[in-house]
Amino acid sequence: HAYDLLVVGSANADLVIGLDRRPGPGETVLGSDLMIHPGGKGANQAAAAARLGARTTLLARVGDDAYGRMLAEAQRDAGAALAGLLVGSTDTPGTVGKSGTDGAAEGKDAPTGVALITVDAAGDNSIVVSPGANARLTPDDVAAARELFEAAAVVSLQLEIPLETVAAAARAAAEHGARLVLNPSPPARLPEDVLALCDPLVLNEHEARLLLDDGQSLTADPEEWATALLALGPRSVVVTLGAEGALVAGPGVGSETTDGIGMVRVPSPRVRAVDTTGAGDAFTGALGWRLGRGDRLEDAVGYAVRVGALAVTRPGAQESYPGAEEIGAADAREADAEEA
Ligand code: RIB
Ligand code: NA
Repeated sequence: HAYDLLVVGSANADLVIGLDRRPGPGETVLGSDLMIHPGGKGANQAAAAARLGARTTLLARVGDDAYGRMLAEAQRDAGAALAGLLVGSTDTPGTVGKSGTDGAAEGKDAPTGVALITVDAAGDNSIVVSPGANARLTPDDVAAARELFEAAAVVSLQLEIPLETVAAAARAAAEHGARLVLNPSPPARLPEDVLALCDPLVLNEHEARLLLDDGQSLTADPEEWATALLALGPRSVVVTLGAEGALVAGPGVGSETTDGIGMVRVPSPRVRAVDTTGAGDAFTGALGWRLGRGDRLEDAVGYAVRVGALAVTRPGAQESYPGAEEIGAADAREADAEEA
């Protein structure tokens, strides 16, 4: 495979303000200086994987504007290929990679997606996304990008682009024999055939509760959510648990299985959270890469939790993502601490 990972998804400029406390309706509060970071769940995943050394490309659409150029540059900096990054509304896959983003200016009507983000003193965020160009990524774009799907070991999806495009990308992945990783965020109902292709479905508690009919009445027990999620049809499930790490469930996972299905908890290293924005995307990008390399699911999750943990220790999304050397160094420190 020419690519370990093809990410199909969103690219946003993250406009971030830090504050002590979020305003209620009708209230005004003062916050920090404005920070502008490259973000978007798709672009974040691709940047995370590329920074770790994965051969990665991103199929996404940005506007022909300054934010679009910032996002292209961030992908390039991280080491991702630009073959699938579409600029404006009428660009087709491949043109950017060949000509550079400067030459590829056509349809100018859709601005780059923007995320308005507040981060509070505890490092927790709230996000409002204006999709802009992301909403113009179509099933036709997926069809035109068939070479990228052919070349990818793993395809990774999230839901900040139209659902019909997500479905087209999932089906294209299956057609070309690529493994599908899907994070249903922001949460939405997926067609059954798309759910059935997910290997794994990756989601947090909030997303799990929204995806399940009886989600709000579920217990606090992630093993129960995983059982209910598997009943929706995905081949495997990974529930991310923040500081608690992740739960992995699926065929042959762990040593104890019931009807061949097993579950394993993967703990996270303890870190001090500064900004959790995009940590889940770093996790999922890293996971997709390790699966593309042939790791077993629980081993890939073990690697991905370490990537996500380092990402929360620094501000921003993409800029906070670690390289492979840093994961190794953090592992060595932990091993020393355990011995002492
Ligand atoms: O998951 C974090 C991301 O969500 C941010 O980068 C923001 O752009 C939104 O898409
Ligand atoms: Na971060």
